Amino acid sequence: MMRNFHRWVGLVLSLVLFVAALSGTALSVVNVLEAGRAIRPASTQTVADLAARVQVAHPGLEQIRRAPSGQVSAWWFDGGQPGSAVVDPATGRDFSSADPDPVRRWFTEVHRSFFLGDSGRIVAASGAFAMLLLAVSGTILAVRRLGGWKRWIARLRGPLAGRLHTEIARVAVVGLVLSAVTALWMSAETFEILSIDEASIGAAPSPSGRTGFPLREMEALRALPASSLRELSFPAADDPQDVYVLKTDRGVGYVDQGSGKLLGWQGLGFWQRVSETVYMLHTAQGAPVLGIFLGAMALGAAVLSATGVLVWLAGWRNRPRIPANAPAARADTVVMVGSENGSTWGFAATLASALRSAGHRVHVAPMSAFHPSRYPHAQRYLILAATYGDGDAPSSAKGFLGRLGELRVPPSAPVAVLGFGDRGFPSFCGYAHDVDAQIRAIGWR
Ligand SMILES: Cc1cc2nc3c(=O)[nH]c(=O)nc-3n(C[C@H](O)[C@H](O)[C@H](O)COP(=O)(O)O)c2cc1C
Repeated sequence: MMRNFHRWVGLVLSLVLFVAALSGTALSVVNVLEAGRAIRPASTQTVADLAARVQVAHPGLEQIRRAPSGQVSAWWFDGGQPGSAVVDPATGRDFSSADPDPVRRWFTEVHRSFFLGDSGRIVAASGAFAMLLLAVSGTILAVRRLGGWKRWIARLRGPLAGRLHTEIARVAVVGLVLSAVTALWMSAETFEILSIDEASIGAAPSPSGRTGFPLREMEALRALPASSLRELSFPAADDPQDVYVLKTDRGVGYVDQGSGKLLGWQGLGFWQRVSETVYMLHTAQGAPVLGIFLGAMALGAAVLSATGVLVWLAGWRNRPRIPANAPAARADTVVMVGSENGSTWGFAATLASALRSAGHRVHVAPMSAFHPSRYPHAQRYLILAATYGDGDAPSSAKGFLGRLGELRVPPSAPVAVLGFGDRGFPSFCGYAHDVDAQIRAIGWR
């Protein structure tokens, strides 16, 4: 059941997961490149010094913002014309355009909503939920396949696509769970299922009524390192009631333009901090090492979607095709197949065709369909059983041992068991051995 669940959730959402994962990888690369290019304020620089330098370059300064990458941008009015630029914090002078990077915007839009507005956001959130379910079900399947938690890093065997799928999954699962949970949190905030307001404060307590205090001397800004700044909005210089609005990574406050003193302060609440941490853990903005890790995990998720589809395609191509299968009620020979990836069905088809040429009426069926009452004319049973996981039943044999155990009387026709396995696994032909032992236990010839 777990395998079917994993397979179908993965297949249905494979395209969504693939696109979301690849765009996530691209965004990580953009973030890391941006962090590499950003000219950050020196660790000793204060907000007062930074603001004063930018103001010298742009007397009509309206706002300074520091991006998570550390890059500082400024917005101003000069001769009635608005202007903006990324600035060099050391000189306050323009460095490059402050227009948002079109490449980043494009990938962000794909990643968040596939350019489909709110419907796309719902699809993206479903993709994140699916990724969480796939990570949990995939972990359970991998533990079963590997033979327990202790063998989590054991060497893998089997066909390449399946091996690659498990190989990547066991490394990427932590990153995938982290990305899925943080994406779900952010979606819940977008759709206001979780409503966490931005930090804000009410009206400023009465300002001094003066203007023109030198920026560089302002007590409230001199105490703050520029690396903690988020945003500083400037007051209208000719309005003594207007104030500076300061946002940092700790909270929001007002600064008097006539005295340079802090007029009010509101720190971030607990949930606002959680929300910011979640945002940082998902986007890794301002944390290039985490960005590289998340980018690699996202690339892993894209490869997982692709290899998952390949594993399914291989199974589909190997699906049972038994021409001229005799009806169960008329068969003298019953061939029962326990297979996971289909190759045992190929052996069963060849065997059935040879028996048919020798004049037998052959019925081929999955072991999971076994019940002696279905084969009133059976003269022999042949069981072809592969082994999966660590000595477990393959999917087309599920429930066989249980049904065998419930039989009061064994079938009268004799049975033979042929195991298909790989000596590289610790439990070589383990399932076929279990079937053999149970057959002997109930006294079936
Ligand atoms: C993930 C995986 C787990 C396997 N576990 C075992 C095992 O525990 N014991 C064994 O003898 N063979 C094991 N095999 C090998 C298969 O039983 C063998 O390749 C068989 O021929 C596959 O048949 P199928 O394609 O019909 O599923 C495993 C193969 C895979 C891919």
